[in-house]
Amino acid sequence: MTDSITIALSKGRILDETLPLLAEAGIELVDDIKKSRKLVFPTTDPNVRVLIIRATDVPTYVQYGGADLGVTGKDVLMEHGGEGLYEPLDLRISSCRLMTAGPKQQPSPSGRIKVATKFVNIARRYYAAQGRQADIIKLYGAMELAPILGLADEIVDIVDTGNTLRANGLEARELIEHISSRLVVNRASMKMKHGRINPIIERMAAAVESRH
Ligand code: ATP
Ligand code: PRP
Ligand code: MG
Repeated sequence: MTDSITIALSKGRILDETLPLLAEAGIELVDDIKKSRKLVFPTTDPNVRVLIIRATDVPTYVQYGGADLGVTGKDVLMEHGGEGLYEPLDLRISSCRLMTAGPKQQPSPSGRIKVATKFVNIARRYYAAQGRQADIIKLYGAMELAPILGLADEIVDIVDTGNTLRANGLEARELIEHISSRLVVNRASMKMKHGRINPIIERMAAAVESRH
């Protein structure tokens, strides 16, 4: 069906900021998502349905055409690589920074460095671009623990207020990238369904503009 559209949204903090933007584009969820165990939701537009999934799975669903559109963090897109995706719109929500961090007032070691992160691809690229030898240790959360427990010299993680770093005796070192959430589109869908997709992009872009 070239007419129906599936949008993959990230659950968690991005979702709360995405729903008002979608509503301004004329797409509202009809169920109370907080109470539901459903993963696929109908919307006020009979031709649009919404999936609510992990932020890290959004690029994968959109890349393989399981969803036509998606919303996820730039950090997640950088880690995924962005294959098969267009990234037409910065939604300017869930802003934060992707940074290296380490124990307070301790310089980054000059030789080979141990780095703990869930962003292994980003970290590999970043240290390689700097000509630094890095052993990357994959974690799935609580990266801030790794330097404290001697697992790593440094971490690569999201920083917003800096409270999590401070509370664990760490400080930010280098900025890797400014992060915000992005609208992504499956490349084939963009061609086949442009008549349905373009108005959604335009209305969401107008909603973003009206806030800044
Ligand atoms: P999960 O909880 O499923 O393991 P997650 O930790 O990536 O995944 P969230 O914490 O909701 O899920 O983060 C989703 C996105 O929001 C991140 O990819 C990033 O772009 C952004 N983000 C993460 N932490 C913050 C923060 N403290 N402040 C602002 N934006 C953030
Ligand atoms: C995120 C991120 C940092 C923290 C940064 O964690 O992984 O730990 O926020 O924010 P701050 O600089 O304002 O402290 P989150 O709360 O998403 O927990 P998580 O480990 O479950 O992802
Ligand atoms: Mg998180």
